[in-house]
Amino acid sequence: MNGKFITVEGIEGVGKTTNITYVQQLLEANGIDVVLTREPGGTPLGEAIRALLLDAQYTGMDPVCELQLMFAARAEHLARVIRPALEQGHWVLCDRFTDATYAYQGGGRGIDTGIIARLEQLVQGDFRPDLTLLLDVPVEVGLARASDRSAPDRFEQEKVDFFERVRQAYLDMAGEYDKRYRLIDASQPLEDVQLQLATVMQTLHA
Ligand code: TMP
Repeated sequence: MNGKFITVEGIEGVGKTTNITYVQQLLEANGIDVVLTREPGGTPLGEAIRALLLDAQYTGMDPVCELQLMFAARAEHLARVIRPALEQGHWVLCDRFTDATYAYQGGGRGIDTGIIARLEQLVQGDFRPDLTLLLDVPVEVGLARASDRSAPDRFEQEKVDFFERVRQAYLDMAGEYDKRYRLIDASQPLEDVQLQLATVMQTLHA
């Protein structure tokens, strides 16, 4: 039997890393084999592409170049990690996937979503996540949290209005694909966020 493909999305500073680990623990406590991975990245070649994408020396990278690098890494990730793991019955928990492209390259950079959809079709066919957890916080909250970390990467250097567009694109997708999406209010204290996540995950393997 094929496993399930779960993606976690949100702007910078929503607490993705902590909460993904928590979701992994919830699944493993239910006897599910979890492959935890991330985008851009997840394979040796994908991680090399990630380094190019995040490197602040490439500030001003052409948006179409950026878009294609995201899908190049994704093609490799799907072929080498995601599809094989699902076929072996593992569940795949992925820190960002194609919705991040719609949010950042579509919403943030203003690339037409029809163009993104064509690349999505080329790289994935009809393959989509079974569940997407959107961790949502107001932009000021996320950016304040993210600024406590190390030197900003190429995306973290963007301005508030860029992240407002990214957040709005995510919220629009959560509304449009309401069967697949679960909106988590990540501005709450950690234990409340984890309670929301536990409730969602319970319905999934109930
Ligand atoms: P991370 O910091 O959450 O690991 O993600 C790296 C950055 O890459 C983050 O700022 C969002 C960005 N990104 C895109 O712009 N498009 C994409 O398709 C993906 C997967 C990530």
